[in-house]
Amino acid sequence: MEEPKTFFIKTYGCQMNELDSDIMVGQLTKRGLERVEDENGADLLIFNTCSIRDLAERKVMGKIGQLGRVRKRRPIIGVTGCMAMAKKEGIFRKLPHVDFVLGTNNITDLDEVLNDYIQSGRPSIRVDKQFEENLDYLVAKRDSKVKAYVSIIRGCDKFCTYCVVPYTRGPEVSRPPQDIIEEVRKLAAEGYKEITLLGQNVNSYGKDKPEWNCLFHDLLYQLDKIEGIERIRFLTSHPIDITLDLMYAIRDLPSVCEFVHFPIQAGSSRILRKMHRIYSKEEYLEKVHQLKSIVPNAALGTDIIVGFPTETEEEFLETYKVFEDIKYSVAFIFTYSPRQGTPALRWKDDIPEEVKLDRLHRLSDLHKRQVAEQYVGLLGTTREVLVEKRNRNGQLKGRTSCWKKVIFDGPDSLVGSIQKVHLHSFNHETLVGNISL
Ligand code: SAH
Ligand code: SF4
Ligand code: F3S
Repeated sequence: MEEPKTFFIKTYGCQMNELDSDIMVGQLTKRGLERVEDENGADLLIFNTCSIRDLAERKVMGKIGQLGRVRKRRPIIGVTGCMAMAKKEGIFRKLPHVDFVLGTNNITDLDEVLNDYIQSGRPSIRVDKQFEENLDYLVAKRDSKVKAYVSIIRGCDKFCTYCVVPYTRGPEVSRPPQDIIEEVRKLAAEGYKEITLLGQNVNSYGKDKPEWNCLFHDLLYQLDKIEGIERIRFLTSHPIDITLDLMYAIRDLPSVCEFVHFPIQAGSSRILRKMHRIYSKEEYLEKVHQLKSIVPNAALGTDIIVGFPTETEEEFLETYKVFEDIKYSVAFIFTYSPRQGTPALRWKDDIPEEVKLDRLHRLSDLHKRQVAEQYVGLLGTTREVLVEKRNRNGQLKGRTSCWKKVIFDGPDSLVGSIQKVHLHSFNHETLVGNISL
């Protein structure tokens, strides 16, 4: 088999997968392959997949399934990411035209797996449970020149009963602080202005390596010192690990954005217990109260699962009430999806789909109204916006430090700078403004 010359990569799922794709793009570019945006005609197709909900898996299966039928000239097809870990060899059975399967902990093996396949023409698979700590993050090739994801911890030890991530990404492994600092310095030197620190649970950073003496807030203090990085964000935080030290760091460090995504998942303590979230509603609300008293302008984000097994209408209304009280700026709301291999599978998925969807719609309607109110409150004010790029309609697009999307007119030279934008209107989830040059 010949060495492929071009590749196409499609990424599903979360930011961790996006960064893993950037690393694979870097590795393949280094190998001499050229990335193409059109899958037709590419010699190698990579699908970096997600398993979080059934729909996510079905999308990928459908997409790759189609390729088996219609193609004449066969490209090499690789499946990577979380579905590779969840289904392992099962992928070859379901999709016999897949040539290699590479798990989330084996990205460093991409070259080797490709070589194996090219030499033997036989399917190849690497799906180790343990993360390969030699992963070269510096090779990552990012699309944006302004903002970058930086991985600080991989895996998850929390084992929420509904979630596949601990099985698809393995146990928590923190990355050495000096490596993170080196990468962020390099990004700053290349002109990047914003970094988002990534992990399934960034605020348990360093707990697996007590000898480093560097917890998440310690890392923030170090990164804040790096010249050129104007904004530091982080995703995602588990409420249990949000400490007072972290709240003070958010308050005191100029580059750390006052936006915290810490998902409650459900507003009923009984459901939270069943989910194994290890906090009660009261404990969560107490954290929010502490955070708001230390960082009064903090904007909050959440993820929610509605229709978890046995969730009653009253329990759902507790979630609704939490929304009414907290007024999140960002909310991702999902209906419960049973996943193979998770503990929640022992309970019957007993909430009918239409009830789940009704709960989802009620919550997202409330959220939309609240976001609109937040936007009305912003009209007439001036906010600092980091300009990321020009959008399809020719306007400049950026975000406030609280992650609100803003568009306005201006020259290309402003991309990568922070501008004071006067906000005069909004449509849907985008604020519209203007600058005085
Ligand atoms: N580590 C993050 C979440 C990662 S998964 C955290 O703990 O906050 C992203 C979101 O997907 C979760 O927060 C949850 O709301 C949702 N999710 C995970 N498993 C799910 C399932 N089985 N069904 C529906 N939503 C799910
Ligand atoms: Fe999944 Fe829970 Fe880990 Fe988040 S904390 S990745 S929801 S197991
Ligand atoms: Fe999906 Fe894996 Fe992320 S399951 S949400 S791609 S960690």
